[in-house]
Amino acid sequence: MASKKAFGVLWILLSAWICAGKISGRGRSCGFPAIYNFGDSNSDTGGKSAAMWEIVPPNGETFFGKPSGRFCNGRIVLDIIAERLGLPYLSPYLDSIGTNFRHGANFATGGSSILPGGYSPFDLDIQIGQFMQFKSRTSALYKRLRTLLPLQNILPRPRDFSKALYTFDIGQNDLNYGFQYTNETQVLASIPGLITKFSQAVSQLYNEGARFFWVHNTGPLGCLPYNVIYDQSKLNDLDRHGCVANQNKAAQEFNRQLKDKVFRLKAQLPNSAFTYVDVYSAKYKLISDASNYGFEDPHKFCCGGYYGFQVNCGAKAVVNGTVYENLCTDPSRYISWDGIHYSQAANLFISKLILNGSLSTPPNSLAEACQNPQKL
Ligand SMILES: *[C@@H]1O[C@H](CO)[C@@H](O)[C@H](O)[C@H]1NC(C)=O
Ligand SMILES: *[C@@H]1O[C@H](CO)[C@@H](O)[C@H](O)[C@H]1NC(C)=O
Ligand SMILES: *[C@@H]1O[C@H](CO)[C@@H](O)[C@H](O)[C@H]1NC(C)=O
Repeated sequence: MASKKAFGVLWILLSAWICAGKISGRGRSCGFPAIYNFGDSNSDTGGKSAAMWEIVPPNGETFFGKPSGRFCNGRIVLDIIAERLGLPYLSPYLDSIGTNFRHGANFATGGSSILPGGYSPFDLDIQIGQFMQFKSRTSALYKRLRTLLPLQNILPRPRDFSKALYTFDIGQNDLNYGFQYTNETQVLASIPGLITKFSQAVSQLYNEGARFFWVHNTGPLGCLPYNVIYDQSKLNDLDRHGCVANQNKAAQEFNRQLKDKVFRLKAQLPNSAFTYVDVYSAKYKLISDASNYGFEDPHKFCCGGYYGFQVNCGAKAVVNGTVYENLCTDPSRYISWDGIHYSQAANLFISKLILNGSLSTPPNSLAEACQNPQKL
């Protein structure tokens, strides 16, 4: 009898605790059933490799044991995001072999930019168009599923589209292309147009039923080793950590406007939840304090090299009888994998900083990214 009473009290306490948790909202996992990602090589899990040229070894060597379509020796941040949500790694939409879209799809491809006319044909508008086609075609197929039962295991459930997490990491190539072909003034002047286009893309997804958005800002462009190498003419424009100062300044201006736009979108789109994630700070923190975190000089990289001419990761050049290639023995000690893309070790470090919400506005962790606090 006494124990029954104790059990009752415990039950009430437990219910109250659960209720309080629900009301306060914090700490409650959103249970995202799928991820839809849009971006460039920072979050490409094999799109460019499938659509254009297959990525060669030693990419993938550390984790997958073979090239995995990623510009990395192992996992990228998006892979860690999938792991944290208990979902499989995302298949690239553009890959026609061995894909599974049950828990989402990845529209990111290496070289992609927000606006068309950059390094890749798959700009953000195209990626959104691909998503819309993906959604309408899978929804149509689903209606006929009784005759196509095995497809249930590889297609998304239509009802999951509005429960999924929509992730973005794009803008770096717009800025990089700008610095390559125009000047700083023009790059800064191009930013409002980029932000407008980004905002239109988000609104289109919202109209398709997307509600939960996880937006990475852009990293410190001027710290990419190749950008430092190419900008030797600007040696007096390096910041105190050896990064190209005006490129980082432009990245920060892009981020300032992006954050402002995300704030406006959240106010405009009812029942939406936005998490703005300061990836820039995570990357810059790692680069500016590399040795303290056990890494080599942040401007060195592991695969490929520059000898007055560029030898890409996995390539070999023979000039005047000399063979030029470069493979480091311990990728875990390098922040940059190939002079442009981060190593798995760096990606794990960055993920640790960004996924618990400490660099996010509002401070949602990944699992809480469906929360919609009034203030951003
Ligand atoms: C940047 O380029 C534009 C267009 O060519 C030119 O008018 C402007 O003077 C340049 N600005 C700087 C600071 O070089
Ligand atoms: C290769 O040899 C040519 C002719 O001697 C020379 O002009 C060129 O700079 C050499 N290239 C390299 C990378 O050493
Ligand atoms: C998030 O993780 C970082 C890195 O481990 C840590 O320094 C920070 O205190 C954590 N923040 C929260 C809110 O848990």
